[in-house]
Order: sequence, then structure tokens, then C-alpha cells
Amino acid sequence: MKSRITGTGSCVPEKIVTNSDLEKKVNTSDEWITERTGIKQRRVVDGTETNSDLCLKASRKALQAAGRTPEDVEMIIVATMSGDMPMPSTASILQKKLGAKNAAAFDLNAACSGFIYGLSVADNFIRSGMFRTVLLVGAEVNSRFVDWDDRATCVLFGDGAGAVVLEPAGGGNGILSTHLYSDGSMWDYVCLPGGGSSNPPTAESIKEGMHFIKMKGNETFKVAVRTLEKLVIDTLKENNIAPSDLTMLIPHQANLRIISATAERLNLPMSKVAVNLDKYGNTSSASIPIALDEVVRAGRIKKDDYILLEAFGGGLTWASALIKW
Ligand code: ACO
Repeated sequence: MKSRITGTGSCVPEKIVTNSDLEKKVNTSDEWITERTGIKQRRVVDGTETNSDLCLKASRKALQAAGRTPEDVEMIIVATMSGDMPMPSTASILQKKLGAKNAAAFDLNAACSGFIYGLSVADNFIRSGMFRTVLLVGAEVNSRFVDWDDRATCVLFGDGAGAVVLEPAGGGNGILSTHLYSDGSMWDYVCLPGGGSSNPPTAESIKEGMHFIKMKGNETFKVAVRTLEKLVIDTLKENNIAPSDLTMLIPHQANLRIISATAERLNLPMSKVAVNLDKYGNTSSASIPIALDEVVRAGRIKKDDYILLEAFGGGLTWASALIKW
């Protein structure tokens, strides 16, 4: 018994912040951001909009696409590092908003690799027979954890949510394999040090900006390129699939140069790579499910196609999944 994705949905906030908007706030340029990252604009929540609000919109679309009701859902996983609050989980808040009263619910944090980690957890619950209908959401409100005065990070991130419904599948189609890795020795490469129990919020910690995302960008970049090149090759080898058999690579959307290096290693033309970071920036756990929903709704993938997902992020964590659609 495998699991397969039976519905996808996504949602991004309406408000757009362009590179030229950022040029007015910090010492940066559209040229620098475009050349170094590929990002042109990002979406940012407005007013009181929350992570669980984005989750709700994406989940409703995914459930509708799957032909399921909220009551059908047996487990909700929200992959996020920017949940509504530390406790309860954003998944529990989503459960109430959605009316999914028959579900177990919890959050999962593997930073930008969170969606694929969640996919692996959902797949294994379905394979074990414990749950039959799982709602998995990747959602972030990064904009509330970004220092808008720090040019090194504020140009990179955006907000959004993507959701999938997973159900049991017989036969050869579905999630073929998932691969999860972490190296905690580099945990401080991408982190948000304040607000947790090691640095609880104080006037001092807030003054020091400990509640903002910190990143050793260049060091992270080098590890990401090296690690992802090996990850995608190993994932295909393990499944006896040649790179030329792939219909689409759906990578985490952190940096176009990282994405291109991975595609090049696989000898894949960019026409077979889902790219949307120009529109949304890095939406962490949400980037892959948003991109997946876009390619599904655009009719770019069809039954029996091989789809490779890969991600790299804070932890450091990295992960991949091979799907026969
Ligand atoms: N505008 C203009 N100049 C800038 C900006 C900016 N927004 N940001 C940095 N610079 C400057 C730096 O100060 C530096 O100047 P210097 O040479 O005078 O010191 C110069 O540009 C080069 O800086 P680098 O950090 O070396 O630039 P790099 O080419 O590495 O690009 C980037 C930075 C885009 C962050 C890249 O390193 C990257 O994408 N890293 C990986 C990100 C990633 O994958 N993170 C993991 C996922 S995130 C998560 O899990 C939450």
C-alpha cells in the first residue's frame, strides 16, 4: 500500500512587495536581488491575516480538488516555522477553522524541508494503515519574523501556504520514496534565536533583534548546492529512474542559482523545473506545495509522470521525494 496525492491547493496573500519597494527601505537594488537570487517580488500578509488563515484557504482548495469534506480528514499536519503561536499547534487552530472535527492535528518544523518531512510522515501513517485521509499543509508567515532593516535577509522571504490531501493507493502510482536528512552541527547557519525557552522574550532580547531570522547566507548556499546535487542523484538511483525519465523537478524556492545547479546536475532543461520564486520569494515550507499546486492546475503533469521534489533549509535539513503521479 502506497499513498498518493489526490488534491492540491494553495494561497498567497494579496499584498505584493517588489524589489523596488525594498530599494526604498534598505541599501539594495533590484539588480542585486535578481542576479543573486532570481526573486523579483514577494507576497506579505496584511493586517490581522495569520498563518492559519492562509492554511484554511489552501486546505479548502485541496479538499475540493480531492472531492473530500473536512469531516473526512483523519490527520492534519502543518509544516511551519512561523505558526500562529508556540502553543497550540497551527494545525489545531486550522482544525477548528476548517471544521475537521475527526482529525488528529499537529505541527512539524523542519524549516524549508518541512513539507517533504511532512509528506514522509503522512505517507508512513497511510502505509501503516493508521490513517486513510491526511491533510498536509506547508504554510509560512515569514514576513513577521524578518528584520525589514536587514538587507541580507529581508529581500529573501515571503508568505504563503500550499496544501495536499493524501490517501491510500494500490498499484504502482503514488509516493515511491521519501528521503530525510539533517546535520544539526550547522543549526546556527539559519536560525531564529529568540522567543523560545533558551531566549524567552525580554525587552533586551527584542532590542537585540533576536526574534528575527538570522542566516549565514553564503555558507548555507555552498552546503545546499553540494548536498542537493548528491541528494537528487541518490534518490533517482534508489528508484532505478534515469534523470531523463523525470517530467518535472519541483525544488524548494530559495535561490535560482541553487535550483539551476541542481537541474544542471540532472541534465534537466529549465522547462522541466517548477520555478516561482520570482513571484513569491522563499516561502520556506510552503514553496513546494505552492509550486506543485501551480503545475497541477496548469496541467503540466499527468498520470504516470515522475515528479521529483527536493528541499534544503534550516537545521540544516534536506529532503527529497519521488512521486509517480
Ligand atoms: N543587496 C545588496 N547587497 C547585498 C544584499 C542585498 N540585499 N545582501 C547582501 N549584500 C552584499 C553583502 O553585504 C556582500 O557585500 P561585501 O562583498 O561587500 O561583503 C555581498 O553582497 C555578497 O554577499 P553574500 O552573502 O556573499 O552573497 P551571496 O552571493 O552568497 O548571496 C544569498 C546571498 C542570496 C543569501 C545566498 O547566499 C543564498 O541564497 N544562500 C542560501 C539560502 C538558503 O538556501 N537558505 C536555506 C533556506 S532558508 C530556511 O530554511 C529558513
